[in-house]
Parts: sequence; C-alpha cells; structure tokens
Amino acid sequence: MFLNKKKNRTPRNIPGHIAIIMDGNGRWAKNKGLPRSFGHSAGAKKFKEIARYCNKIGVKYLTVYAFSTENWKRPQDEIDGIMNLLRDYLKDSTNFKGENIKLRFIGNRSALPEDIRTLMENSESESDDATGMTACLALNYGGRDEITNAIQRIVSDKISADEINEELISSYLYTWEYPDPDLIIRPSGEYRLSNFLVWQSAYSEFYFDNVLWPDFSVKDLDKAIDEFNRRNRRFGGV
Ligand code: FPP
Repeated sequence: MFLNKKKNRTPRNIPGHIAIIMDGNGRWAKNKGLPRSFGHSAGAKKFKEIARYCNKIGVKYLTVYAFSTENWKRPQDEIDGIMNLLRDYLKDSTNFKGENIKLRFIGNRSALPEDIRTLMENSESESDDATGMTACLALNYGGRDEITNAIQRIVSDKISADEINEELISSYLYTWEYPDPDLIIRPSGEYRLSNFLVWQSAYSEFYFDNVLWPDFSVKDLDKAIDEFNRRNRRFGGV
C-alpha cells in the first residue's frame, strides 16, 4: 500500500509486477536533432530513475524490454550502441549498490557478446542477497522465442503429453520464478505488445501513454498506477 496524495490518503494498490516497453528513444533523439544513440542513452538513465522509484513505492518486480530478438534487424552501429550502454551499465558499480535491488535477466543469452554475458552473471550473483525489488532486464528476449525454447526443452526432457499443463509450461519459461505482470506500460503512442511477455500477459492490465520513454516521469508512472487502481480485474470471472 502507498498513500495516494491526490485522494487525501486513500491507500492505493501498488502492482506487484510492472513491465515496461521502453519505447520512443529514437523519436526523442530525432525531435532534438540528435543521433538515435542519444535517445537510448537517455532511455537507460530513465530506466534507473524509474526502477529506483518502483523500489521505493514497494513494487516487487519490474521487467523492462531492453533488446528484443527482432532488434538485431537494426543498423549495426545502433546495436553496438545499445550493447555498449548495457556494458557501461553492468560495469558501473554505483548501479543499485546498497539499494537492495536484485538484478535479473530474461532472454536468450547465447547470442549476446561473451563479455556482456559474464557481466550479467556477475551482476546477478552480486545482487543475490537483495530482498527488495527484482529489476529484470529483457535482453535478446522474444515471447515467441521463449515459448519455442520451452517446447524444445519439454520435448528433450521427454515429458509426456498428459503431464503438460499451464503450470508446467510456465515453469519452462525464462520467467519461471516471477509472477505474471499485473500492469504493462507502453509509452510513445504505440499500441502493441511487440512480442513482449506473450504468455505472461494473458490477464495483465495495459496502459498506453503518448510520452516518449526518455521523458516518462515518476508522475507518469503514478498516473499509470492510479489508472490501474480504477480497473476491475476479473480474470475471466464475474
Ligand atoms: C525502443 O525505442 C528502445 C529500444 C529498442 C532499446 C531500449 C534500450 C535502452 C533504453 C537501453 C538499455 C540499457 C539499459 C541499461 C537499461 P526505439 O528505438 O524503437 O524508439 P523509436 O520507436 O522512437 O525509434
């Protein structure tokens, strides 16, 4: 529970798991006459700010879409720029140190540069003991790729057809240890899921905003949470 200032201390429900599609970095840079890489750099800074705020208000899981399985289609210099941002971020010892945030990653790691994979493993083990929010970066992540990968492993584990149910499939996904997202936010005026958390979003609430990700503020996040509080979630019931 976190007090809603606008409504004079009406307690509001904080979504346990928020997922964000960090969209609009390129357009933000273009609007300013800057190269796209500046937009991604501003987007990475924004991720830190929003993650800290989520941890402060009691969000338990924050998952952000940092690089999709489709993003390899971008020009090589843009891909290199995003990989360099990730490198810098993972090397920066000031990131979330002492903030009790657990850092995790979902996606297919095998296609990522080896040094980044090592940095990812180090960040995970260094934050193993954190008991606050889990910040999960989706890297080389695609929902369809995740489901394909799960089916391959289910078959290679020789699981019989009658043992396959939703719980078993969930346990083979990259997100096996996390609850499904309660709220999925996509800024930048686009209204699609773009292969993000395809299985997990079955009953998520969606919130779309026209603000470009580098301009997305904690106030915008509060607006999304207020809207989430106005939704009536029925999970298929009445
Ligand atoms: C979508 O905006 C954004 C991406 C494909 C990359 C997001 C990556 C980051 C914010 C950096 C990740 C690093 C850390 C440390 C979290 P877009 O480029 O598609 O924007 P556009 O639609 O305006 O072109």
